[in-house]
Amino acid sequence: MRFEVITLFPELFEVLDLGLLGKAKDAGAIEVTTITPRHFAQDKHRTVDDAPYGGGSGMVLMPGPFAAAIDHLDTERGGAPTHRVLLTPQGAPFSQSHAHRFSKLETLTLVCGRYEGFDERIRSFVDEEVSLGDFVLLGGETAALAVIEATARLLPGVLGNQDSAADESHADGLLEYPQYTRPEVFRGRAVPDVLRSGNHAAIARWRRKESLRRTLERRPELLEGAELSEEDRVLLDEIASET
Ligand code: ADE
Repeated sequence: MRFEVITLFPELFEVLDLGLLGKAKDAGAIEVTTITPRHFAQDKHRTVDDAPYGGGSGMVLMPGPFAAAIDHLDTERGGAPTHRVLLTPQGAPFSQSHAHRFSKLETLTLVCGRYEGFDERIRSFVDEEVSLGDFVLLGGETAALAVIEATARLLPGVLGNQDSAADESHADGLLEYPQYTRPEVFRGRAVPDVLRSGNHAAIARWRRKESLRRTLERRPELLEGAELSEEDRVLLDEIASET
């Protein structure tokens, strides 16, 4: 899958050379191309922002260099389709369902704003807007990195073990169950007996119940959107009677 990033700080994306994503790049499972709108600025100072119409403090990113960067990427791709996403705190909250949808694309183009704001007409160049959460960053880059990482790890061959993407938190709308490894007792805290029982059915039931309990305690709103079985209802009743 190809990720294209329009950013004033391409160096920030060098972190994608590290770890599993670096391996995925080397193996050709993902490709990351960055382009800076500054390259398409019209003056010798490579200016990409200007004062806001109507006055006020701060500068606003100009639409021209962003539009030129988008056109340049379209040409480089030979007109093949892409899906363009603008990173902004005004976008829809990014979630695992976005990552799943994006992971089916050939190409995803991420547009990062910076500073106090961007010209409203930049919005008309994109297909959707996504936010990393209800807080304000200095720009869209950290959000774009999160989108790339969450999307890329769903691609075949990026994670060593494909099962780990199926089991983890949010994969089925619930938070993941607690995990343990050795030692059996650590600073007085023991691993739950059932996990050492070798009884696979009992382990699966315990994990599902703890996944439901954790979601109920920490993110109850997720339970409303999750697909719950009859057995899940039984487990939830058990949890309710325990507390
Ligand atoms: N740019 C600035 N803040 C952001 C946020 N919370 N999400 C995405 N892009 C942003």
